[in-house]
Amino acid sequence: MRRELKSLNGREFSLLRGVSLQLQIPLVRFSYSEILAATNNFSKGRVLGRGALSFVFRGKVGLLRTAVAIKRLDKEDKEASKAFCRELMIASSLYHSNIVPLVGFCIDPEEGLFLVYKYVSGGSLERHLHDKKVKGGVKGSPGLSWSVRYKVALGIAQAIAYLHNGTERCVVHRDIKPSNILLSSKKVPKLCDFGLATWTSAPSVPFLCKTVKGTFGYLAPEYFQHGKISDKTDVYAFGVVLLELITGRKPFEATRPPGEENLVLWAKPLLQKGKGAIEELLDPQLQCTLRNTTQIIQMIQAATACVSNEESRRPGIDEIIGILRGEEQPIYSNRKKSNFSGIIDCYPQLQRTKSEMNSHLALAMLGVSEFEDDDHLYCR
Ligand SMILES: Nc1ncnc2c1ncn2[C@@H]1O[C@H](COP(=O)(O)OP(=O)(O)O)[C@@H](O)[C@H]1O
Ligand SMILES: [Mg+2]
Repeated sequence: MRRELKSLNGREFSLLRGVSLQLQIPLVRFSYSEILAATNNFSKGRVLGRGALSFVFRGKVGLLRTAVAIKRLDKEDKEASKAFCRELMIASSLYHSNIVPLVGFCIDPEEGLFLVYKYVSGGSLERHLHDKKVKGGVKGSPGLSWSVRYKVALGIAQAIAYLHNGTERCVVHRDIKPSNILLSSKKVPKLCDFGLATWTSAPSVPFLCKTVKGTFGYLAPEYFQHGKISDKTDVYAFGVVLLELITGRKPFEATRPPGEENLVLWAKPLLQKGKGAIEELLDPQLQCTLRNTTQIIQMIQAATACVSNEESRRPGIDEIIGILRGEEQPIYSNRKKSNFSGIIDCYPQLQRTKSEMNSHLALAMLGVSEFEDDDHLYCR
């Protein structure tokens, strides 16, 4: 790896010097001609998707013609090259059945930067939930059955738990949303897109950044308002995804009646109402049956806890998994029996917890990830 890097120009060498020291899983370094051959010269029919900074193409590589997704980033764009470095370093250190594996990369001084991922064939959750062509594809049947939605919720929660607590350093994804969740042919969910991901010293040790990146509609209030990032940023975004799975609605829909355009604002009073609101909340394509009611309630409880406005009262992802599985009672249930949703900001002021104190202390002793070269602390 290091020998290869020496042949790069100065800018790219410095860009990737850190990477060579930190790659943990062996990656294939592809040449640009291999990338061209794999994507049939980036033919239009191979486009899988596009994001703010990239185009993603379907391709085949190697003797075994392994199906891959090749993400092309513009090397001239500063944001794109930073996203490439983040993604290469972080994705190469991850190994989990609910995370799309990185296979390799290509750096070409003339043509750009490429990340090569294993191809996930079932399309994105965004497509399944919100694309009218896919939704209800088979006459009369729901686009995504309840059991798949529950499996997606649990799988992605496990991927997030792995990021936050399962590796040497806590990884905050920062862009959890349905277009970054892919489904395999067997509807196993896989988290992708680590272009905004960052390492933090530990879960619940927040740091501040100057520029708020991510996707509107999924941004936790403390991040949106104060640039404060921690594992709880992902928990909030995951809560919005849970609400999308439950309701089939997008985070913002201008075509909805007044008061219903913003999913979280619309859902919160309903979540407070308790079981009686299941019918109003549930995607009209789904039915609440004897078999799925318990899981629906568990997912509503988990979503409610995740979208709590106060970061310090938002549980960590392990607790959310417990709620999703029905193993853990949301804390409020000891206080407010007949209602499953009172967790939203219902704690009395005096309930300010030890973890909140810890968060404040942690904030006073901030640490910042080495990637955040433009996201310096406000108050060093
Ligand atoms: N490994 C993959 N397999 C199949 N499709 C993929 C894969 N990776 C990305 N895509 C498609 O490309 C889209 C954009 O990819 P993503 O990594 O999220 O890029 P961006 O950083 O530009 O948002 C995804 O929403 C998905 O539709
Ligand atoms: Mg994306």
